Amino acid sequence: MELHEFIRALPKAELHLHIEGSLEPELMFEMAQRNGVKLPYANVEETRAAYAFTDLQSFLDIYYAGAAALIHERDFHDLAMAYFYRAKVDGVVHTEIFFDPQTHTARGLAFETVLDGLERACQEAQSQLGISSRLILCFLRHLPEEDAFRTLEQAVPHLSRIHGVGLDSSEKGHPPAKFQRVFAKCRELGLHLVAHAGEEGPADYIRDAVDLLHVERIDHGVRVTDDPALVERLAKEKIPFTVCPLSNLKLRVFPDLSTHSLKRMLGAGLRVTINSDDPAYFGGYIGQNYLETAKALKLSKNELVTIARNSLLGSFVTDAERAPWLAKLEAVAKSA
Ligand code: ADE
Ligand code: ZN
Repeated sequence: MELHEFIRALPKAELHLHIEGSLEPELMFEMAQRNGVKLPYANVEETRAAYAFTDLQSFLDIYYAGAAALIHERDFHDLAMAYFYRAKVDGVVHTEIFFDPQTHTARGLAFETVLDGLERACQEAQSQLGISSRLILCFLRHLPEEDAFRTLEQAVPHLSRIHGVGLDSSEKGHPPAKFQRVFAKCRELGLHLVAHAGEEGPADYIRDAVDLLHVERIDHGVRVTDDPALVERLAKEKIPFTVCPLSNLKLRVFPDLSTHSLKRMLGAGLRVTINSDDPAYFGGYIGQNYLETAKALKLSKNELVTIARNSLLGSFVTDAERAPWLAKLEAVAKSA
């Protein structure tokens, strides 16, 4: 079996996917046209040409501009369905999707417009494609904590449809401590907790996300290798890391994939997973992330099985939901 076929056959969970980051330029223009929204680029080609990033902020500026095409419930539904079709092709059985309500409510959209559209797509993905999913609301860390509290208030009537909260956007200068109170409130509400940490920011932010925010997973966390004691501790604690190699490459966290810390993290016993982050902007969905990383870091099939297994173990599903996926994974591993 060729490597890409083996990767596709592995049942996997995608645990780090920003739904707004799966908006392909073609769909962006289609929506902008039907919604009468003016985009900063003349056409699809010009848009793709602008996707030459130098760091996280240079990406975020373009990513927030693109989200302006999303206006109606239908747009959020169509966006998520387009992602689910791509995920199906890559052998994703389960996904925990990030969404950024503040990006949309700041433009005057109702919180419910966003949630209703995404939720309808999640149900359709289950019934039509057999993909299960959960929604994770991310707070934008460049905004004040009071804004996060206001967003949480909007979310509270809908907590049966929101599984957890996360923290994203500009990392440097916006440490986990800034959001300690709102995360404590989310914890009281019984929400699952995750946070981006150690993408561009220091390893200290990873420790603070765990110790101050009590997150159950670290998103990115690739700078953990700067702190060997922290690596040892988080390996012991089995904290999952949702690593996104093509994102790190495009945002110049590493100069090339062969220098990525993923293999060292895996070798140190950390619960590493592979994910796509913002696939429409970074040149590949989850399968491409597995494939290019496997080639650059010379990952064995065994290591790829471990990564896929980590994604199933790191997901927020029940053991009963997880069991058939794990069984299938072990069968694929044996057949390799
Ligand atoms: N929002 C979307 N993608 C992100 C990333 N890679 N880091 C921080 N915030 C984000
Ligand atoms: Zn991310």
